[in-house]
Amino acid sequence: MSFKKDFLWGGATAANQFEGAWNVDGKGPSCSDMCTGGSHTVSKRITQTIEENTFYPSHEAIDFYHRYKEDIALFAEMGFKVFRFSIAWTRIFPTGMEKAPNEAGLKFYEDVIDECLKYNIEPLITISHYEVPFGITEKYNGWASREVIDLYMNYCVAIFNRYKGKVKYWLTFNEINSATMPMGGYLSQGILNEGTTDFINQVDIPKLRFQGLHHQFIASAKAVKLAHEIDSNYKIGCMQLFATMYPYTCNPDDIVKTQQDSRVMNYFCGDVQVRGEYPTYMNRYFKENNIEIKIEDKDLEILKEGCVDFYTFSYYMSICVSSDPKEASTSGNILGGVKNPYLKASDWGWQIDPKGLRYTLNEIYDRYQIPMMVVENGLGAYDKKESDGSINDDYRIEYLKEHIEQMEEAVEDGVDLFGYTPWGCIDLVSASTGEMAKRYGFIYVDKYDDGSGDLSRLKKKSFNWYKQVIESNGEKLENADTVYA
Ligand code: BG6
Repeated sequence: MSFKKDFLWGGATAANQFEGAWNVDGKGPSCSDMCTGGSHTVSKRITQTIEENTFYPSHEAIDFYHRYKEDIALFAEMGFKVFRFSIAWTRIFPTGMEKAPNEAGLKFYEDVIDECLKYNIEPLITISHYEVPFGITEKYNGWASREVIDLYMNYCVAIFNRYKGKVKYWLTFNEINSATMPMGGYLSQGILNEGTTDFINQVDIPKLRFQGLHHQFIASAKAVKLAHEIDSNYKIGCMQLFATMYPYTCNPDDIVKTQQDSRVMNYFCGDVQVRGEYPTYMNRYFKENNIEIKIEDKDLEILKEGCVDFYTFSYYMSICVSSDPKEASTSGNILGGVKNPYLKASDWGWQIDPKGLRYTLNEIYDRYQIPMMVVENGLGAYDKKESDGSINDDYRIEYLKEHIEQMEEAVEDGVDLFGYTPWGCIDLVSASTGEMAKRYGFIYVDKYDDGSGDLSRLKKKSFNWYKQVIESNGEKLENADTVYA
């Protein structure tokens, strides 16, 4: 048996993508609440005020806020050992700037946590997942301003104290490294530069994003320290978006470019959060890109004192890197890169690469040697509800099965892996496109891109399959209906 006896099997979500109730019980608007719907080909728009007669997918989402008991019961039925969700900062501090927390928001998450504990499901909480309070965007241009560190710390004080004794695992920022790309400016950092009207083509000022990252590193390190002071049982992790990169050819130019791109995108943030210091390779990157970061006297000490306890990441795809400008970006992947002729892709062009997960787990573990968890992985696909109400998502079973097999290989290779939470265990709104049509769940939600749907929940075929995977601690991966030649 490869997986640890108490391996944490579960699923992952984020507040802004599934809670709905965007302005209920004192909640304020977040950056995500200002995003309209979009599609694979049409970008979500970012509006400065809420427009009448415009559809904002996060406003109702799948209404977990009012249905959490039903949903957590379904997770428990699958046998979840862990449930990853995020707290919406704006439920606790509606503009991000209040002095005292909003009791209704604190109470909601306490109820969610208690409901999980009722079924022995361990909560794994992301403190900030793509929902900076819009008030902070308006006043400070998001994380570009240093003041936001203190605002984030007020928020951490409130939640660390309130959930003490009930929660063990926390993640400071979802996919913190997404801000090494222009797309992460708004979504991850709440930076909205003048002239930005849509999510895909943001007016980008790299200096602000990297300054914002410095502030987030300091906030993350301070949060780690604070959490340990409040409750010595708290374990705090980092969370990276891992875009595994392969050289397109064995041309040394491709090899060197892959190493350089991967350092900035995949390793830089993890290096700071795990090792507590800036990696030296970033000096050259900053110099060549005219980026000067303001670092205060105490900052380097703070980083050293706030190294994370464990490492987590999302893994959906790999990309190839070429030094030949003609190859450019031919894959259609949201993360760019060159198409890999050996891989198939999802309907959204994300290249499917299970072996890349084994490779990635090994690469990261070699670098840090701390416990790891895969906190997002999955297949966004068009699901069809048949007339009898069944949803036969064999493609999703196949995808997950192949990735779990490779995680098992990585464990055999010696990686200290302690959990797996596939993304969107219940259908929810897509972060990149705002669609409902891009579904990841084991549970189907009757909700559509025009806002229609009765929000009822249905078990997909993958629901019972995943139940069997968890029951057998990853031993039984076969899809009962697959006919083998
Ligand atoms: C990760 C995010 O990037 O990928 C999630 O942490 C997101 O918020 C997930 O939903 C899948 O991406 P998408 O665009 O298909 O929703």
